[in-house]
Amino acid sequence: MSETPHLNVLAVAPECFPLIKTGGLADVVGALPGALAPAGCDMRVLMPLYPAVTENVGKCKAVHAYDDLFGGQALIIASETAGLNAYLIEAPHLFDRPGNPYVGADGKEWPDNHLRFAALSRVAADFGLGLAGDWRPDIVHAHDWQAGLAAAYMRMSGETRSRKTPKTVITIHNLAFQGLYPARHLAALGLPADTFTSDGIEYFGQIGFLKAGLIYSDAVTTVSPTYANEIRTPALGMGLDGVLNARPEPVTGILNGIDLDVWNPAEDEAIEEPYSTRRLKKKAKNKLALQQHFGLDEDPDALLACLISRLTDQKGIDLVFECLPGFIGKGGQLALLGSGDRALEKLATDAAAGYAGKVGTFIGYDETLSHRMQAGADMILIPSRFEPCGLTQLIGLRYGTLPLVARTGGLADTVIDANAAAVQARAATGFQFAPIDAETLGFTLERALDLYRQPEIWKGMQKRAMAQDVGWEASARQYMALYEGLL
Ligand code: ADP
Ligand code: GLC
Repeated sequence: MSETPHLNVLAVAPECFPLIKTGGLADVVGALPGALAPAGCDMRVLMPLYPAVTENVGKCKAVHAYDDLFGGQALIIASETAGLNAYLIEAPHLFDRPGNPYVGADGKEWPDNHLRFAALSRVAADFGLGLAGDWRPDIVHAHDWQAGLAAAYMRMSGETRSRKTPKTVITIHNLAFQGLYPARHLAALGLPADTFTSDGIEYFGQIGFLKAGLIYSDAVTTVSPTYANEIRTPALGMGLDGVLNARPEPVTGILNGIDLDVWNPAEDEAIEEPYSTRRLKKKAKNKLALQQHFGLDEDPDALLACLISRLTDQKGIDLVFECLPGFIGKGGQLALLGSGDRALEKLATDAAAGYAGKVGTFIGYDETLSHRMQAGADMILIPSRFEPCGLTQLIGLRYGTLPLVARTGGLADTVIDANAAAVQARAATGFQFAPIDAETLGFTLERALDLYRQPEIWKGMQKRAMAQDVGWEASARQYMALYEGLL
């Protein structure tokens, strides 16, 4: 039962599922409003109106017009769509472009990204200061660098921070992306020169969008407790550990969840055969379908691992290719879905060509196929060099597809390694490895192959994994406590 809303939150983000998605950020921004509604939170999402979003939106109503939003006219449109209350920024000069939200068809960042996402932040700040009249947020919650200037613009609006001015939160989904731009853009961004200091928006001589968010927001969160600690160290702080440590309050780590209706093996229409802990045998049909789809040998006894990922250095995919000869030689198979870095894409297609019947690759982005892979595989590999939270291991747990993960960030927080003690205590749900290198990954794949040959232990792990709570409820409570604490 939902409480009557007593808290309004404006979530500000560059992407949101199901309107548009390039990664886990969209899943999180799309899931939080539904997760927080039962606690009495009216969360609405502010984002750009890209062409792909236009195809997905329902009924719309204009709530505000700008004569000049960073170089052109803009309309703010309220829309109820796919169960979300969204405010969309219709600014054709900034957002009406083909391709992905951040890069053009040539794979290069749009040259005016600083203006495009300053516009997102500017509108967020205006909302905070009362732009939409009838609906005013108590909290403006920015996600990642693209929304990083929102708190700064609110601070600089000239209005004193009266009791009515919303509190601001920023969530770091990935510290590797910081939104750094040359100082010469200061005036174009409407940022006063006196903000360009080391305790303001200046970051090693450049304008730092994320840094601005970390400096000016009332609270900073990230998406797992372990990552919250890691980013306060030079090793994973990406140059911002000093800024994070200087804040009066430590960064709060709140784990992501997954949408348990979207990801439900018992009712998933995308998969070959629904299954549950009680009907785990049916998972085998999904495995066979997946082997057929990827042209793999139809062998029920092969340990079928899958990998579903952006192909970037962060994700450590290269380590998997190094371990392939050993893994395949000992009876493993691999199905890979991903896109990104051209060199990694080539390694993936080469592997499929080199290990016919053992490795299958699909280069691209395919939501339906990702469901079929989670259902059909025995194991999902996530060897990330760093991982703020990670969602595919949570989906793997839910589907009884045991995650084999690097011990870092949210991966460390969500998977229990099958070491001898955990196996004996019947606590294990997957495999962790550290240090994060090919040799240790290789040993860990061998551990997995070993346990796979002990079906009783493996089945126990699957059932435990599937029973793990990977939904949003607990984390939603933590977000509510954070918001309420700020007010
Ligand atoms: P990140 O946001 O760093 O890419 P996450 O694990 O948080 O990593 O989220 C990735 C999300 O994108 C998951 O929902 C995953 O299933 C999905 N995903 C990644 N690559 C693909 C792909 N090629 N096709 C379909 N879904 C993908
Ligand atoms: C980022 C991170 C990922 C996280 C996602 C959602 O893309 O790389 O670890 O799960 O954001 O928070």
